[in-house]
Amino acid sequence: MQTAGKLLVRALKGETVARPPVWLMRQAGRYLPEYRATRMKAGSFLDLCYNPDLAVEVTLQPIRRFGFDAAILFSDILVVPHALGQGLRFEEGRGPLLDAIADDEGMARLAMDQFHARLKPVYTAVSGIKAALPAETALIGFAGAPWTVASYMIEGGSSRDYARTKAWAYQRPESFQRLTNLLVDATASYLIAQIEAGAEVLQIFDSWAGALDHAGLLRWSLAPMKAIVDRVRMSHPEVPVIVFPRGCGAGYLDFARASFMHGLGIDSGVPLDWAFTQLQGRIALQGNLDPQLLVAGGVAMRDATAKILDTLGQGPFIFNLGHGIVPETPPQHVEDLVKQVQAWRR
Ligand code: CP3
Repeated sequence: MQTAGKLLVRALKGETVARPPVWLMRQAGRYLPEYRATRMKAGSFLDLCYNPDLAVEVTLQPIRRFGFDAAILFSDILVVPHALGQGLRFEEGRGPLLDAIADDEGMARLAMDQFHARLKPVYTAVSGIKAALPAETALIGFAGAPWTVASYMIEGGSSRDYARTKAWAYQRPESFQRLTNLLVDATASYLIAQIEAGAEVLQIFDSWAGALDHAGLLRWSLAPMKAIVDRVRMSHPEVPVIVFPRGCGAGYLDFARASFMHGLGIDSGVPLDWAFTQLQGRIALQGNLDPQLLVAGGVAMRDATAKILDTLGQGPFIFNLGHGIVPETPPQHVEDLVKQVQAWRR
């Protein structure tokens, strides 16, 4: 079936479009000189996230330069715990630092009362992006999944083994469930507000899903993401949602079978033939070029891109990376990639 409308939305509704839409995770970021200039002007990374004019500007920069089929709101998954009252800062070269929550008492200090007021600049940015985007470009809103966000909240930043988070989940599952439920409520409400400000598609990032064992994946990654999507769907059934449980291996089958989402993001480790035979018949897929191939460029990037397109391009598919763009990426390679995908035909 062929209908009018934005390519990304059509692909997510399972339509077979002439070529897959393309956008890249972290398409706005430090690999672009114009991003670095705007970030400097903003002062800090968080100031950039909460400055609607500058957030609109950096969201649009990669659209102007490369003509992606979708823009993704410029923000961060950690504004959710920040809006719940948790201390957050970003230090150059160290990534995010949060005032770690150690116990139920710390959890009790989180509150929804200021939540939407604190996130107002994000909603203003969404409306501003929507008004400025070309008619054919879709606007993606996003949030982090409860498991990934909880890991930052409990570890106080990035982690190698998620030891504190896992200790909490294994030793006090009822308590961890309460934290998860709080994040489900806050995140669903946050995503609904993004839709009401103009987001046309949503993505939920579970970047650290791959750290969970299989039982943990079902309980702490799949179930909370399903609860969020069900909640969003109640009020906005027309808005497609992509979930990205990165690194979950054969666990991707559980997501494809549950099929509560419209699109499933796959990381670079997922074999293409397996994704084609086991997953794509059930769900639109998104992925999965290795971000380091975008750094390498040339023949290696071209061949890997052709392989992805030839294997998954026949079904409902969105071209993307298997994880975010890294700062070392030459912008010319991004331009080469977008041209190749947009020239490909089914
Ligand atoms: O994709 C986009 O272009 C939209 C913007 C976006 C950012 N972060 C901007 C950002 C999105 C969708 C995110 C999501 C995000 N943030 C995730 C999930 C996706 C993933 O990468 O796994 C996670 C885990 C975070 C948390 C986070 N934010 C970390 C660990 C870091 C530090 C790592 C780094 O790259 O420096 C950030 C900072 C961050 N978020 C930057 C950007 C552009 C770099 C900050 C800077 O400008 O210095």
